[in-house]
Amino acid sequence: MSVFDRGILEGEKEGNRERWGGEPEAEVFPAVPRPPASVDEVIAISTLSHQLFPEQPWDRIAVEEEMARRDGWVRVLVDGCGGLVGYLLARTGVDEVQILQIGVSPAFQGRGHGRLLLRRFLDEVDASGIPMVSLEVRSSNRVARKLYLGEGFRRVGIRRAYYRRPVDDALLMTRPRP
Ligand SMILES: CC(C)(COP(=O)(O)OP(=O)(O)OC[C@H]1O[C@@H](n2cnc3c(N)ncnc32)[C@H](O)[C@@H]1OP(=O)(O)O)[C@@H](O)C(=O)NCCC(=O)NCCS
Repeated sequence: MSVFDRGILEGEKEGNRERWGGEPEAEVFPAVPRPPASVDEVIAISTLSHQLFPEQPWDRIAVEEEMARRDGWVRVLVDGCGGLVGYLLARTGVDEVQILQIGVSPAFQGRGHGRLLLRRFLDEVDASGIPMVSLEVRSSNRVARKLYLGEGFRRVGIRRAYYRRPVDDALLMTRPRP
């Protein structure tokens, strides 16, 4: 079993036990986030982005443009059959990487995949030497906030009524390199 397989099992074990008290699902597949490898994967990112973020979706062209940028990060997590489990979009700025969007397919949510995707991405950023990672999150998004807090992000600011449909505050969070 690889370190990545172990990671996903541990993530699921923690998440499932805490919420439902049961045993983790035995769902083992190559859980290494990587850049998209095909047009189909790019389309899958866009489809999931429209589903999860209808107010600010990334279309296929935007994802491809992000992939072409030197400062763009696009990562996918796929299951053993090549289906999209989740994706992460980010961009390097001045001395920091900003996470633009992270999403896990509804069928896979709450089973540790979001944490795995984020953790492996943070490992990549740390290895690159970039000293800070930042993001914005809806104040009402409890699951995402929990995910970020658990990975070392801390709230550093707030933008009142930043989001629409529904109106919500944006919490600004940063995570210094450990
Ligand atoms: C937010 C998101 C990426 C998290 O990914 P995920 O795979 O569902 O989350 P994980 O299973 O890795 O769990 C992350 C944390 O949230 C908790 N969590 C997950 N689902 C939960 C639920 N339904 N209720 C309460 N807590 C929950 C987990 O317990 C875990 O915390 P812990 O490790 O301290 O126990 C995913 O739910 C998603 O795509 N949501 C819709 C899009 C979105 O909101 N993206 C973030 C925008 S900033």
